[in-house]
Amino acid sequence: MSNYFVIGNPIDHSLSPLIHNYWFTKYKIKGIYKKKNLQEDNLEVFVQSMRDNNVKGANVTVPFKKKIIPFLDELTKIAEETQSVNTITKKDGKLIGHNTDVTAFGETIKDLKRNENDKPLNSLIIGAGGVTPSILFAIKHLNNSASKIYITNRTKNNADKLLAETSKHFTENLKPKIVEWGNVPKDIELVVNTTSVGLIKDESLDLDFSDYKDMNNVIFYDLIYNPKETKFLSDAIKRRNKTINGKMMFLLQAKQAFFKWTNINVEIDHEVSKILDK
Ligand code: ATR
Repeated sequence: MSNYFVIGNPIDHSLSPLIHNYWFTKYKIKGIYKKKNLQEDNLEVFVQSMRDNNVKGANVTVPFKKKIIPFLDELTKIAEETQSVNTITKKDGKLIGHNTDVTAFGETIKDLKRNENDKPLNSLIIGAGGVTPSILFAIKHLNNSASKIYITNRTKNNADKLLAETSKHFTENLKPKIVEWGNVPKDIELVVNTTSVGLIKDESLDLDFSDYKDMNNVIFYDLIYNPKETKFLSDAIKRRNKTINGKMMFLLQAKQAFFKWTNINVEIDHEVSKILDK
């Protein structure tokens, strides 16, 4: 039996074990996936357990996505750019850090836009927390040609820091622009909530999107999937915007991690999708 873990602190809320263990059973793989609550001091010990082959693969969540990096041997390009690792694999004795959040988010946007032309989306990212760099780079990779990226965060200083850490990866015409909290740009086609606001039911971001009324081509994307419909999304539905929550992104990042560990390209079936509806 191979051991897999998701490490974080806190970790109780994580639904990753339910998903990965469902796939281990469905695809008849001898694996077991558990949560591990770690103190930062124990990151190195955990990584050593992967080197010693006691652990075959791992997911990494808050607050260790960046802190794990010094203990790994290699990073994929996307993990390097975002300085954020959510999946660890072992190949030829080397521990490799991946970031499947970026590719998962990108896939969901491509799916939403499948029947439309591939033109870049002017985007507004709300927040500057742990997951924000992944969304920033996902949008950068989606929008290879010129388009605007705005970032707004309640504490402007945190957005400044995020840009200082990432701006070397952006060409001049794609450099994200920080906008004051409360000033919603008039020319956006994708708005992503990366903050924790909405995790508590009916909690609401103090931002006014009334200019976007009846614009059914504008996508409002909340990374939160529980609750299924945050106030951010229910307001967008009332305005008749396009909406999506974080459920498919969460499933896709798990699917991509699972593939890296097992080489199995799982199907996202009704059963696994239901797991997140608890
Ligand atoms: P992390 O994801 O790194 O653990 P977090 O505490 O969950 O961090 O917060 C992530 C984001 O939610 C941050 O952008 C935070 O804004 P600040 O930088 O101003 O703290 C944002 N956030 C949390 N509560 C908020 C609120 N009530 N209104 C607006 N933004 C909020």
